Amino acid sequence: MFPTIDPTQTTAWGKLEQHYRDNNHLKMQDLFKKDPERFSKFSLQFENILLDYSKNRITTETLDLLIALAKECQLDKAIEAMFNGEKINATEKRSVLHIALRNQSGTPIEVDGENVMPQVNAVLAQMKDFSDAIISGAWRGYTGKRITTIVNIGIGGSDLGPVMVTEALKPYKKPHMEVYFVSNVDGSHIAETLKHVDPEQTMFMIASKTFTTQETMTNALTARAWFLDHARKKELVKKHFVAISTNAEAVSEFGIDTQNMFEFWDWVGGRYSLWSAIGLSIACTIGFDNFKQLLAGAHAMDNHFKNEPFERNAPVILALLGIWYNNFFQAESHALLPYDQYMHRFAAYFQQGDMESNGKYVSRNGKKVHYQTGPIIWGEPGTNGQHAFYQLIHQGTKLIPCDFLAPAITHNPIADHHEKLLANFFAQTEALMNGKSEEEVIAELKGIVPDEELETLKPFKVFEGNRPTNSILFKKLDPRTLGCLIAMYEHKIFVQGVIWNIYSFDQWGVELGKQLAKKILPELFGKDEVQSHDSSTNGLINQFKRFRS
Ligand code: F6P
Repeated sequence: MFPTIDPTQTTAWGKLEQHYRDNNHLKMQDLFKKDPERFSKFSLQFENILLDYSKNRITTETLDLLIALAKECQLDKAIEAMFNGEKINATEKRSVLHIALRNQSGTPIEVDGENVMPQVNAVLAQMKDFSDAIISGAWRGYTGKRITTIVNIGIGGSDLGPVMVTEALKPYKKPHMEVYFVSNVDGSHIAETLKHVDPEQTMFMIASKTFTTQETMTNALTARAWFLDHARKKELVKKHFVAISTNAEAVSEFGIDTQNMFEFWDWVGGRYSLWSAIGLSIACTIGFDNFKQLLAGAHAMDNHFKNEPFERNAPVILALLGIWYNNFFQAESHALLPYDQYMHRFAAYFQQGDMESNGKYVSRNGKKVHYQTGPIIWGEPGTNGQHAFYQLIHQGTKLIPCDFLAPAITHNPIADHHEKLLANFFAQTEALMNGKSEEEVIAELKGIVPDEELETLKPFKVFEGNRPTNSILFKKLDPRTLGCLIAMYEHKIFVQGVIWNIYSFDQWGVELGKQLAKKILPELFGKDEVQSHDSSTNGLINQFKRFRS
Protein backbone atom coordinates (compact mmCIF):
# COMPACT_ATOMS: atom_id res chain seq x y z
CA MET A 1 0.00 0.00 0.00
CA PHE A 2 1.39 3.37 -1.04
CA PRO A 3 0.49 5.98 1.58
CA THR A 4 -0.94 9.42 0.77
CA ILE A 5 -0.18 11.49 3.83
CA ASP A 6 0.14 15.26 3.95
CA PRO A 7 3.50 15.59 5.72
CA THR A 8 2.57 18.94 7.25
CA GLN A 9 -0.33 17.29 9.11
CA THR A 10 1.97 14.92 10.99
CA THR A 11 2.95 15.46 14.61
CA ALA A 12 6.62 15.33 13.63
CA TRP A 13 6.22 18.21 11.16
CA GLY A 14 4.76 20.47 13.82
CA LYS A 15 7.56 19.53 16.18
CA LEU A 16 10.14 20.15 13.48
CA GLU A 17 8.72 23.66 12.93
CA GLN A 18 9.08 24.38 16.61
CA HIS A 19 12.51 22.76 16.70
CA TYR A 20 13.58 24.94 13.76
CA ARG A 21 12.40 28.10 15.56
CA ASP A 22 14.26 27.11 18.70
CA ASN A 23 17.50 25.97 17.07
CA ASN A 24 18.11 27.66 13.73
CA HIS A 25 20.56 30.05 15.36
CA LEU A 26 22.81 27.15 16.45
CA LYS A 27 26.31 27.25 15.04
CA MET A 28 27.87 24.05 13.82
CA GLN A 29 31.25 25.17 15.15
CA ASP A 30 29.78 25.27 18.66
CA LEU A 31 28.11 21.90 18.21
CA PHE A 32 31.48 20.40 17.25
CA LYS A 33 33.17 22.04 20.21
CA LYS A 34 30.55 20.71 22.60
CA ASP A 35 30.55 17.18 21.30
CA PRO A 36 33.83 15.45 20.40
CA GLU A 37 31.78 12.46 19.23
CA ARG A 38 29.90 14.47 16.62
CA PHE A 39 31.72 12.96 13.62
CA SER A 40 31.16 9.38 14.72
CA LYS A 41 27.56 10.15 15.67
CA PHE A 42 26.74 11.71 12.32
CA SER A 43 28.62 9.59 9.82
CA LEU A 44 28.23 6.12 8.43
CA GLN A 45 30.13 3.79 6.19
CA PHE A 46 28.71 1.61 3.47
CA GLU A 47 31.21 -0.65 1.70
CA ASN A 48 33.98 1.71 0.55
CA ILE A 49 31.89 4.82 0.94
CA LEU A 50 32.01 7.12 3.94
CA LEU A 51 29.07 9.47 4.36
CA ASP A 52 29.93 12.25 6.78
CA TYR A 53 26.85 14.35 7.52
CA SER A 54 28.16 15.90 10.71
CA LYS A 55 28.65 19.32 9.06
CA ASN A 56 24.91 19.92 9.03
CA ARG A 57 22.77 22.22 11.15
CA ILE A 58 21.36 19.34 13.14
CA THR A 59 21.37 17.86 16.60
CA THR A 60 20.37 14.35 17.61
CA GLU A 61 16.91 15.73 18.26
CA THR A 62 16.67 17.07 14.69
CA LEU A 63 17.48 13.67 13.32
CA ASP A 64 15.06 11.93 15.67
CA LEU A 65 12.27 14.25 14.58
CA LEU A 66 13.09 13.81 10.89
CA ILE A 67 13.05 10.05 11.33
CA ALA A 68 9.74 10.33 13.15
CA LEU A 69 8.46 12.27 10.13
CA ALA A 70 9.58 9.47 7.78
CA LYS A 71 7.83 6.94 10.02
CA GLU A 72 4.61 8.94 10.22
CA CYS A 73 4.64 9.26 6.44
CA GLN A 74 4.88 5.46 6.34
CA LEU A 75 8.11 5.36 4.43
CA ASP A 76 8.54 1.70 5.37
CA LYS A 77 5.28 0.82 3.58
CA ALA A 78 6.29 2.85 0.54
CA ILE A 79 9.66 1.07 0.28
CA GLU A 80 7.91 -2.26 0.56
CA ALA A 81 5.42 -1.24 -2.12
CA MET A 82 8.19 -0.32 -4.55
CA PHE A 83 10.20 -3.49 -3.96
CA ASN A 84 7.03 -5.61 -4.24
CA GLY A 85 6.26 -4.25 -7.68
CA GLU A 86 3.09 -2.40 -6.68
CA LYS A 87 1.89 0.18 -9.20
CA ILE A 88 3.25 3.11 -7.26
CA ASN A 89 3.50 5.20 -10.44
CA ALA A 90 -0.27 5.55 -10.21
CA THR A 91 -0.83 8.26 -12.83
CA GLU A 92 0.71 5.95 -15.43
CA LYS A 93 -0.55 2.76 -13.72
CA ARG A 94 2.96 1.33 -13.63
CA SER A 95 5.25 -0.44 -11.21
CA VAL A 96 8.63 1.13 -10.51
CA LEU A 97 11.22 -1.59 -10.69
CA HIS A 98 14.65 -0.33 -11.65
CA ILE A 99 15.69 -2.38 -8.61
CA ALA A 100 14.74 -5.53 -10.59
CA LEU A 101 17.24 -4.64 -13.31
CA ARG A 102 20.07 -5.07 -10.83
CA ASN A 103 18.52 -7.76 -8.67
CA GLN A 104 21.30 -10.30 -8.41
CA SER A 105 19.81 -12.14 -5.46
CA GLY A 106 18.02 -14.81 -7.47
CA THR A 107 14.72 -13.96 -5.78
CA PRO A 108 11.69 -13.35 -7.99
CA ILE A 109 10.14 -9.91 -8.43
CA GLU A 110 6.59 -9.86 -9.71
CA VAL A 111 4.50 -7.49 -11.77
CA ASP A 112 0.84 -8.50 -12.12
CA GLY A 113 1.70 -11.92 -10.71
CA GLU A 114 4.45 -12.54 -13.25
CA ASN A 115 8.10 -12.88 -12.24
CA VAL A 116 10.02 -10.32 -14.33
CA MET A 117 13.46 -11.72 -13.54
CA PRO A 118 13.60 -14.23 -16.44
CA GLN A 119 13.04 -11.40 -18.96
CA VAL A 120 15.55 -9.15 -17.19
CA ASN A 121 18.16 -11.89 -17.26
CA ALA A 122 17.42 -12.77 -20.89
CA VAL A 123 18.05 -9.17 -21.98
CA LEU A 124 21.21 -9.06 -19.87
CA ALA A 125 22.41 -12.22 -21.65
CA GLN A 126 21.59 -10.61 -25.01
CA MET A 127 23.54 -7.51 -23.98
CA LYS A 128 26.48 -9.64 -22.92
CA ASP A 129 26.58 -11.52 -26.24
CA PHE A 130 26.27 -8.33 -28.23
CA SER A 131 28.84 -6.31 -26.27
CA ASP A 132 31.28 -9.26 -26.32
CA ALA A 133 30.85 -9.54 -30.08
CA ILE A 134 31.41 -5.81 -30.59
CA ILE A 135 34.45 -5.59 -28.31
CA SER A 136 36.08 -8.81 -29.57
CA GLY A 137 35.55 -7.84 -33.19
CA ALA A 138 33.35 -10.85 -33.91
CA TRP A 139 30.63 -8.45 -35.10
CA ARG A 140 31.70 -7.02 -38.42
CA GLY A 141 30.52 -3.97 -40.29
CA TYR A 142 29.31 -3.94 -43.90
CA THR A 143 32.82 -3.97 -45.36
CA GLY A 144 34.08 -6.65 -43.00
CA LYS A 145 35.84 -4.26 -40.63
CA ARG A 146 35.36 -4.47 -36.88
CA ILE A 147 33.22 -1.97 -34.99
CA THR A 148 35.29 0.57 -33.08
CA THR A 149 32.77 3.36 -32.49
CA ILE A 150 29.43 3.48 -30.74
CA VAL A 151 27.05 6.38 -31.38
CA ASN A 152 24.19 6.40 -28.91
CA ILE A 153 21.25 8.45 -30.12
CA GLY A 154 18.82 9.25 -27.32
CA ILE A 155 17.79 12.08 -25.02
CA GLY A 156 16.96 12.58 -21.34
CA GLY A 157 17.06 9.25 -19.56
CA SER A 158 18.09 7.54 -22.78
CA ASP A 159 21.23 9.67 -22.89
CA LEU A 160 22.24 11.23 -19.59
CA GLY A 161 22.82 7.98 -17.69
CA PRO A 162 25.07 6.37 -20.32
CA VAL A 163 26.90 9.69 -20.84
CA MET A 164 27.50 10.17 -17.14
CA VAL A 165 28.59 6.56 -16.55
CA THR A 166 30.87 6.22 -19.58
CA GLU A 167 32.56 9.48 -18.56
CA ALA A 168 32.83 8.46 -14.90
CA LEU A 169 34.26 5.06 -15.83
CA LYS A 170 36.56 6.20 -18.63
CA PRO A 171 39.54 4.47 -17.01
CA TYR A 172 37.72 1.18 -17.67
CA LYS A 173 37.11 1.95 -21.35
CA LYS A 174 38.32 -0.66 -23.83
CA PRO A 175 41.17 1.15 -25.54
CA HIS A 176 39.98 0.39 -29.08
CA MET A 177 36.38 1.51 -28.46
CA GLU A 178 35.10 5.07 -28.76
CA VAL A 179 31.65 6.27 -27.76
CA TYR A 180 29.71 9.35 -28.81
CA PHE A 181 26.32 10.57 -27.66
CA VAL A 182 23.91 12.55 -29.79
CA SER A 183 20.93 13.98 -27.98
CA ASN A 184 20.07 17.50 -29.13
CA VAL A 185 17.76 17.97 -32.10
CA ASP A 186 20.06 20.85 -33.04
CA GLY A 187 21.60 19.45 -36.25
CA SER A 188 25.00 20.64 -35.09
CA HIS A 189 25.13 17.82 -32.55
CA ILE A 190 24.85 15.02 -35.06
CA ALA A 191 26.78 16.91 -37.76
CA GLU A 192 29.78 17.37 -35.48
CA THR A 193 29.62 13.74 -34.34
CA LEU A 194 29.44 12.32 -37.85
CA LYS A 195 32.62 14.23 -38.76
CA HIS A 196 34.51 11.95 -36.37
CA VAL A 197 33.11 8.55 -37.22
CA ASP A 198 33.66 6.04 -39.98
CA PRO A 199 30.45 4.46 -41.34
CA GLU A 200 32.23 1.16 -41.87
CA GLN A 201 33.16 0.87 -38.20
CA THR A 202 30.29 2.58 -36.39
CA MET A 203 27.37 1.05 -34.51
CA PHE A 204 24.39 3.37 -33.98
CA MET A 205 22.26 2.64 -30.94
CA ILE A 206 18.84 4.25 -31.16
CA ALA A 207 17.85 4.49 -27.51
CA SER A 208 14.30 5.54 -26.79
CA LYS A 209 11.83 4.06 -24.36
CA THR A 210 8.87 5.26 -26.41
CA PHE A 211 10.59 5.35 -29.82
CA THR A 212 8.53 8.43 -30.61
CA THR A 213 10.69 11.18 -29.11
CA GLN A 214 11.08 13.91 -31.72
CA GLU A 215 14.77 14.61 -31.08
CA THR A 216 15.80 10.96 -31.14
CA MET A 217 13.77 10.03 -34.18
CA THR A 218 15.05 13.05 -36.12
CA ASN A 219 18.67 12.26 -35.26
CA ALA A 220 18.15 8.57 -36.00
CA LEU A 221 16.75 9.33 -39.47
CA THR A 222 19.68 11.65 -40.20
CA ALA A 223 22.15 9.00 -39.04
CA ARG A 224 20.49 6.38 -41.18
CA ALA A 225 20.46 8.64 -44.26
CA TRP A 226 24.16 9.42 -43.71
CA PHE A 227 24.93 5.73 -43.32
CA LEU A 228 23.03 4.84 -46.50
CA ASP A 229 24.90 7.56 -48.41
CA HIS A 230 27.96 5.44 -47.75
CA ALA A 231 26.68 1.86 -47.62
CA ARG A 232 24.06 2.32 -50.38
CA LYS A 233 22.05 -0.80 -49.54
CA LYS A 234 19.13 -0.75 -47.11
CA GLU A 235 19.75 -4.31 -45.95
CA LEU A 236 23.11 -3.20 -44.51
CA VAL A 237 21.36 -1.04 -41.90
CA LYS A 238 20.99 -4.08 -39.67
CA LYS A 239 24.77 -4.42 -39.35
CA HIS A 240 25.09 -0.88 -38.02
CA PHE A 241 21.86 0.00 -36.23
CA VAL A 242 20.31 -1.47 -33.10
CA ALA A 243 17.35 -0.22 -31.13
CA ILE A 244 16.77 -0.06 -27.40
CA SER A 245 13.12 0.41 -26.65
CA THR A 246 9.88 -0.77 -25.11
CA ASN A 247 8.09 -0.21 -28.43
CA ALA A 248 8.78 -3.09 -30.84
CA GLU A 249 6.19 -1.89 -33.35
CA ALA A 250 7.77 1.55 -33.77
CA VAL A 251 11.23 -0.04 -33.98
CA SER A 252 10.30 -2.23 -36.92
CA GLU A 253 8.41 0.64 -38.56
CA PHE A 254 11.63 2.63 -38.40
CA GLY A 255 13.33 -0.17 -40.34
CA ILE A 256 15.36 -1.80 -37.59
CA ASP A 257 15.05 -5.57 -37.48
CA THR A 258 13.48 -6.50 -34.13
CA GLN A 259 16.21 -9.15 -33.94
CA ASN A 260 18.47 -6.17 -33.32
CA MET A 261 16.24 -4.74 -30.63
CA PHE A 262 17.04 -4.74 -26.94
CA GLU A 263 13.89 -4.65 -24.93
CA PHE A 264 12.98 -3.02 -21.67
CA TRP A 265 9.67 -2.49 -19.97
CA ASP A 266 7.21 0.19 -18.95
CA TRP A 267 8.10 -0.35 -15.28
CA VAL A 268 11.52 1.18 -15.97
CA GLY A 269 11.34 4.97 -15.78
CA GLY A 270 13.44 6.78 -18.40
CA ARG A 271 15.58 8.52 -15.79
CA TYR A 272 16.11 5.21 -13.98
CA SER A 273 16.94 3.23 -17.11
CA LEU A 274 20.73 3.13 -17.33
CA TRP A 275 20.56 -0.28 -15.63
CA SER A 276 18.42 -1.66 -18.45
CA ALA A 277 19.29 -2.21 -22.11
CA ILE A 278 19.70 1.60 -22.22
CA GLY A 279 23.09 0.77 -20.68
CA LEU A 280 24.17 -1.08 -23.85
CA SER A 281 26.51 1.74 -24.88
CA ILE A 282 28.09 1.44 -21.41
CA ALA A 283 28.55 -2.34 -21.76
CA CYS A 284 30.08 -1.91 -25.23
CA THR A 285 32.51 0.71 -23.95
CA ILE A 286 33.72 -0.71 -20.63
CA GLY A 287 32.81 -4.36 -21.19
CA PHE A 288 29.95 -6.40 -19.83
CA ASP A 289 31.79 -7.54 -16.69
CA ASN A 290 32.26 -3.94 -15.61
CA PHE A 291 28.62 -3.20 -16.43
CA LYS A 292 27.66 -6.13 -14.18
CA GLN A 293 29.81 -4.63 -11.41
CA LEU A 294 27.91 -1.38 -11.78
CA LEU A 295 24.64 -3.32 -11.34
CA ALA A 296 26.11 -5.23 -8.38
CA GLY A 297 26.97 -1.96 -6.62
CA ALA A 298 23.45 -0.66 -7.14
CA HIS A 299 22.00 -3.95 -5.89
CA ALA A 300 24.11 -3.73 -2.74
CA MET A 301 22.75 -0.22 -2.14
CA ASP A 302 19.20 -1.49 -2.78
CA ASN A 303 19.67 -4.04 -0.01
CA HIS A 304 21.09 -1.42 2.32
CA PHE A 305 18.14 0.88 1.58
CA LYS A 306 15.59 -1.88 2.07
CA ASN A 307 17.04 -3.40 5.22
CA GLU A 308 18.91 -0.82 7.27
CA PRO A 309 17.03 1.07 9.97
CA PHE A 310 16.40 4.67 8.97
CA GLU A 311 19.02 5.88 11.50
CA ARG A 312 21.78 4.05 9.57
CA ASN A 313 20.32 4.28 6.09
CA ALA A 314 22.35 6.50 3.74
CA PRO A 315 19.61 7.40 1.22
CA VAL A 316 17.12 8.05 4.04
CA ILE A 317 19.53 10.29 5.94
CA LEU A 318 20.39 12.28 2.79
CA ALA A 319 16.70 12.65 1.97
CA LEU A 320 15.77 13.82 5.47
CA LEU A 321 18.57 16.37 5.58
CA GLY A 322 17.35 17.66 2.22
CA ILE A 323 13.84 18.03 3.63
CA TRP A 324 15.20 19.82 6.70
CA TYR A 325 16.77 22.54 4.52
CA ASN A 326 14.13 22.59 1.81
CA ASN A 327 11.08 22.83 4.04
CA PHE A 328 12.28 24.44 7.23
CA PHE A 329 15.22 26.63 6.19
CA GLN A 330 13.46 27.25 2.83
CA ALA A 331 16.63 26.47 0.87
CA GLU A 332 15.80 26.49 -2.82
CA SER A 333 18.61 24.51 -4.33
CA HIS A 334 21.06 21.73 -3.65
CA ALA A 335 24.54 21.47 -5.16
CA LEU A 336 26.33 18.27 -6.16
CA LEU A 337 30.06 18.92 -6.22
CA PRO A 338 32.18 15.96 -7.25
CA TYR A 339 35.90 16.40 -6.74
CA ASP A 340 36.60 14.04 -9.60
CA GLN A 341 36.88 15.19 -13.17
CA TYR A 342 35.50 11.88 -14.42
CA MET A 343 32.23 12.69 -12.61
CA HIS A 344 31.75 15.91 -14.52
CA ARG A 345 28.24 14.92 -15.71
CA PHE A 346 27.06 13.67 -12.30
CA ALA A 347 25.14 16.81 -11.42
CA ALA A 348 23.63 17.04 -14.92
CA TYR A 349 22.50 13.43 -14.61
CA PHE A 350 20.80 14.05 -11.27
CA GLN A 351 19.24 17.25 -12.53
CA GLN A 352 16.97 14.99 -14.53
CA GLY A 353 16.89 12.29 -11.85
CA ASP A 354 15.79 14.66 -9.13
CA MET A 355 14.03 17.54 -10.87
CA GLU A 356 11.99 15.42 -13.28
CA SER A 357 11.03 13.17 -10.37
CA ASN A 358 10.20 15.66 -7.65
CA GLY A 359 9.49 18.88 -9.54
CA LYS A 360 5.74 18.53 -8.88
CA TYR A 361 3.15 20.76 -7.22
CA VAL A 362 0.27 18.29 -7.18
CA SER A 363 0.11 15.86 -4.26
CA ARG A 364 -0.79 12.20 -4.46
CA ASN A 365 -4.28 13.29 -3.40
CA GLY A 366 -4.59 15.35 -6.59
CA LYS A 367 -4.45 18.67 -4.69
CA LYS A 368 -1.97 21.51 -5.00
CA VAL A 369 0.63 21.21 -2.26
CA HIS A 370 1.11 24.10 0.14
CA TYR A 371 4.75 23.38 0.92
CA GLN A 372 7.95 23.18 -1.07
CA THR A 373 8.82 20.02 -3.03
CA GLY A 374 11.90 19.22 -5.14
CA PRO A 375 14.90 21.57 -5.02
CA ILE A 376 16.89 22.91 -7.94
CA ILE A 377 19.84 20.57 -8.45
CA TRP A 378 23.02 21.93 -9.88
CA GLY A 379 26.78 21.65 -9.65
CA GLU A 380 30.11 21.26 -11.38
CA PRO A 381 33.26 19.41 -10.46
CA GLY A 382 35.70 20.86 -7.99
CA THR A 383 37.99 22.65 -8.13
CA ASN A 384 36.54 24.41 -11.20
CA GLY A 385 33.42 25.41 -9.30
CA GLN A 386 35.53 27.10 -6.63
CA HIS A 387 36.69 29.63 -9.22
CA ALA A 388 33.20 30.19 -10.54
CA PHE A 389 30.23 30.04 -8.18
CA TYR A 390 31.55 29.17 -4.71
CA GLN A 391 31.63 32.88 -3.85
CA LEU A 392 27.85 32.78 -3.64
CA ILE A 393 27.85 29.59 -1.57
CA HIS A 394 30.25 31.19 0.94
CA GLN A 395 28.98 34.75 1.13
CA GLY A 396 25.73 34.92 -0.85
CA THR A 397 22.33 35.53 0.67
CA LYS A 398 21.07 32.05 -0.16
CA LEU A 399 21.55 28.90 1.86
CA ILE A 400 22.83 26.19 -0.47
CA PRO A 401 23.31 22.74 1.06
CA CYS A 402 26.08 20.95 -0.84
CA ASP A 403 27.22 17.37 -1.30
CA PHE A 404 30.95 17.04 -1.79
CA LEU A 405 32.03 13.75 -3.36
CA ALA A 406 35.57 12.48 -3.90
CA PRO A 407 37.66 9.33 -4.29
CA ALA A 408 40.63 8.76 -2.01
CA ILE A 409 42.53 6.95 -4.75
CA THR A 410 42.87 8.51 -8.17
CA HIS A 411 43.15 6.70 -11.49
CA ASN A 412 45.85 9.21 -12.41
CA PRO A 413 48.40 9.52 -9.62
CA ILE A 414 50.45 12.31 -11.15
CA ALA A 415 52.76 14.22 -8.81
CA ASP A 416 50.64 15.75 -6.03
CA HIS A 417 47.54 16.58 -8.11
CA HIS A 418 45.26 14.36 -6.10
CA GLU A 419 46.44 15.57 -2.70
CA LYS A 420 45.91 19.14 -3.89
CA LEU A 421 42.43 18.27 -5.15
CA LEU A 422 41.46 16.65 -1.86
CA ALA A 423 43.03 19.41 0.20
CA ASN A 424 40.60 21.73 -1.56
CA PHE A 425 37.66 19.41 -0.85
CA PHE A 426 38.46 19.28 2.88
CA ALA A 427 39.23 22.99 3.02
CA GLN A 428 35.97 23.98 1.39
CA THR A 429 33.73 21.98 3.70
CA GLU A 430 35.69 23.27 6.70
CA ALA A 431 35.52 26.86 5.48
CA LEU A 432 31.82 26.62 4.73
CA MET A 433 31.20 25.45 8.26
CA ASN A 434 33.61 27.64 10.23
CA GLY A 435 33.56 30.77 8.13
CA LYS A 436 35.88 33.52 9.31
CA SER A 437 35.09 35.71 12.29
CA GLU A 438 35.74 39.42 12.68
CA GLU A 439 38.50 38.63 15.19
CA GLU A 440 40.20 36.35 12.73
CA VAL A 441 40.05 39.02 10.03
CA ILE A 442 41.57 41.58 12.39
CA ALA A 443 44.33 39.17 13.46
CA GLU A 444 45.09 38.45 9.81
CA LEU A 445 45.29 42.07 8.66
CA LYS A 446 46.57 43.89 11.72
CA GLY A 447 49.90 45.50 10.93
CA ILE A 448 49.64 44.52 7.28
CA VAL A 449 47.13 47.19 6.24
CA PRO A 450 46.60 50.57 7.91
CA ASP A 451 44.00 50.47 10.72
CA GLU A 452 41.61 52.72 8.85
CA GLU A 453 41.69 50.49 5.79
CA LEU A 454 41.25 47.43 7.98
CA GLU A 455 38.07 48.93 9.39
CA THR A 456 36.69 49.47 5.85
CA LEU A 457 37.74 46.06 4.60
CA LYS A 458 36.59 44.07 7.61
CA PRO A 459 32.93 43.42 6.73
CA PHE A 460 33.86 42.12 3.28
CA LYS A 461 36.39 39.69 4.66
CA VAL A 462 34.11 38.13 7.29
CA PHE A 463 32.45 34.80 6.40
CA GLU A 464 29.41 33.86 8.48
CA GLY A 465 29.98 30.16 7.88
CA ASN A 466 27.43 27.69 9.23
CA ARG A 467 26.80 26.52 5.64
CA PRO A 468 25.86 22.84 5.55
CA THR A 469 27.65 20.13 3.59
CA ASN A 470 27.63 16.36 3.28
CA SER A 471 30.97 14.76 2.50
CA ILE A 472 30.90 11.54 0.53
CA LEU A 473 34.40 10.11 0.46
CA PHE A 474 34.95 6.81 -1.29
CA LYS A 475 37.98 4.65 -1.89
CA LYS A 476 38.09 4.67 -5.68
CA LEU A 477 35.70 5.44 -8.50
CA ASP A 478 35.22 1.89 -9.79
CA PRO A 479 32.07 0.42 -11.38
CA ARG A 480 30.74 -1.06 -8.13
CA THR A 481 31.20 2.17 -6.17
CA LEU A 482 29.60 4.23 -8.92
CA GLY A 483 26.64 1.82 -8.92
CA CYS A 484 26.28 2.29 -5.15
CA LEU A 485 26.45 6.07 -5.42
CA ILE A 486 23.87 6.35 -8.19
CA ALA A 487 21.46 4.03 -6.39
CA MET A 488 21.97 5.98 -3.16
CA TYR A 489 20.80 9.18 -4.85
CA GLU A 490 17.95 7.41 -6.64
CA HIS A 491 16.61 6.20 -3.31
CA LYS A 492 17.14 9.61 -1.73
CA ILE A 493 14.86 11.05 -4.42
CA PHE A 494 12.32 8.29 -3.78
CA VAL A 495 12.24 8.97 -0.02
CA GLN A 496 11.73 12.69 -0.56
CA GLY A 497 8.91 12.05 -3.03
CA VAL A 498 7.21 9.75 -0.52
CA ILE A 499 7.41 12.36 2.25
CA TRP A 500 6.33 15.24 0.01
CA ASN A 501 3.38 13.05 -0.98
CA ILE A 502 3.99 13.47 -4.71
CA TYR A 503 4.30 10.99 -7.56
CA SER A 504 8.01 10.81 -8.36
CA PHE A 505 7.82 8.54 -11.37
CA ASP A 506 5.73 10.40 -13.93
CA GLN A 507 6.73 13.55 -15.83
CA TRP A 508 3.60 15.21 -17.20
CA GLY A 509 5.28 18.57 -16.88
CA VAL A 510 7.43 18.01 -19.95
CA GLU A 511 4.47 17.23 -22.21
CA LEU A 512 3.01 20.70 -22.80
CA GLY A 513 6.15 22.08 -24.45
CA LYS A 514 6.41 18.98 -26.64
CA GLN A 515 2.78 19.36 -27.79
CA LEU A 516 3.19 23.03 -28.61
CA ALA A 517 6.46 22.45 -30.51
CA LYS A 518 4.61 19.95 -32.72
CA LYS A 519 1.92 22.52 -33.40
CA ILE A 520 4.39 25.30 -34.17
CA LEU A 521 6.67 23.26 -36.44
CA PRO A 522 4.51 23.47 -39.59
CA GLU A 523 4.07 27.21 -39.04
CA LEU A 524 7.80 27.73 -39.48
CA PHE A 525 7.64 26.70 -43.10
CA GLY A 526 6.17 28.97 -45.83
CA LYS A 527 5.93 32.72 -46.04
CA ASP A 528 2.59 33.45 -44.34
CA GLU A 529 2.59 35.64 -41.25
CA VAL A 530 1.63 33.69 -38.16
CA GLN A 531 -1.19 35.13 -36.06
CA SER A 532 -2.47 32.21 -34.05
CA HIS A 533 -0.47 32.88 -30.85
CA ASP A 534 -0.01 35.67 -28.34
CA SER A 535 1.74 38.74 -29.72
CA SER A 536 5.15 37.76 -28.33
CA THR A 537 5.15 34.25 -29.82
CA ASN A 538 3.74 35.59 -33.13
CA GLY A 539 6.41 38.32 -33.13
CA LEU A 540 9.22 35.86 -32.54
CA ILE A 541 8.05 33.37 -35.15
CA ASN A 542 7.53 36.08 -37.76
CA GLN A 543 10.94 37.64 -37.11
CA PHE A 544 12.51 34.16 -37.37
CA LYS A 545 10.91 33.86 -40.80
CA ARG A 546 12.01 37.36 -41.89
CA PHE A 547 15.61 36.65 -40.84
CA ARG A 548 15.58 33.59 -43.06
CA SER A 549 13.82 35.04 -46.11
O1 F6P B 1 11.35 14.61 -21.73
C1 F6P B 1 10.84 13.66 -20.93
C2 F6P B 1 11.23 12.26 -21.24
O2 F6P B 1 10.06 11.52 -21.35
C3 F6P B 1 12.16 11.69 -20.18
O3 F6P B 1 11.50 11.29 -19.06
C4 F6P B 1 12.84 10.61 -20.93
O4 F6P B 1 13.96 10.18 -20.26
C5 F6P B 1 13.11 11.29 -22.23
O5 F6P B 1 11.96 12.10 -22.45
C6 F6P B 1 13.36 10.41 -23.41
O6 F6P B 1 12.29 9.56 -23.69
P1 F6P B 1 12.43 8.30 -24.61
O7 F6P B 1 13.41 7.38 -24.00
O8 F6P B 1 11.06 7.71 -24.70
O9 F6P B 1 12.91 8.77 -25.97
